Order: sequence, then C-alpha cells, then structure tokens
Amino acid sequence: MQRLCNTEDIPEREARGFDTDKGPILVTQRDGAFYAYLNNCPHLGTELEYQENQFLDMDREYIICSTHGALFQVEDGSCIFGPCQGDHLTAVEISVHSDGGIYLVE
Ligand code: FES
Repeated sequence: MQRLCNTEDIPEREARGFDTDKGPILVTQRDGAFYAYLNNCPHLGTELEYQENQFLDMDREYIICSTHGALFQVEDGSCIFGPCQGDHLTAVEISVHSDGGIYLVE
C-alpha cells in the first residue's frame, strides 16, 4: 500500500495532489472524511488544477476543473455544472490507518 501523507497534511476543505501508481490523484477532506479522485477531467482528460494543489473553487465547496470551470461534488465526484455535467470524476480508494496515515488501496 502506498502511503500518501498524514491526515493533518490535508485540513478540512483543502486538497492535495499526489503522483501514484494509479496516476495523478487528488485527495480532499470534507466533514472529517477523505475523498480521492483521479486528477483527470471527464470533459477532455486534462488535469484539473491550474496551480499546485489548487483543486477547489473559491468557496472551497466543489472540486473545480481549471480548464472550463466544471464543478464536481466532493462526496461522489459527480459534475453538477459545466460541459461534462452528469459525468463523474473517477474515485480512487484510500484508507486512513490508525498511524494517522492516508494510504492508497492497491
Ligand atoms: S477540461 Fe475540464 S471542464 Fe473542460
């Protein structure tokens, strides 16, 4: 299992990108739970962020694609606004261990 980081490295309503065996992913925290998705927009297959670790919109409510502004729900990755509305980010399975680490599930 690949260790990504510690839970405190991703505070509530922040996000971080990682290069993993599954490709680039993002991890974010919402209401105490951690969510991970491939860093790949379903519209054109581009990476989502415009600057390192900038995956959320200004209100930190949604994951945003910087290319055309598509908005994705943090909890399920579904696109609720933009050119790929109705499509989804691809979820990546992670687990939080008792050592405080966030791990990529192989
Ligand atoms: S590439 Fe993401 S919205 Fe167009």
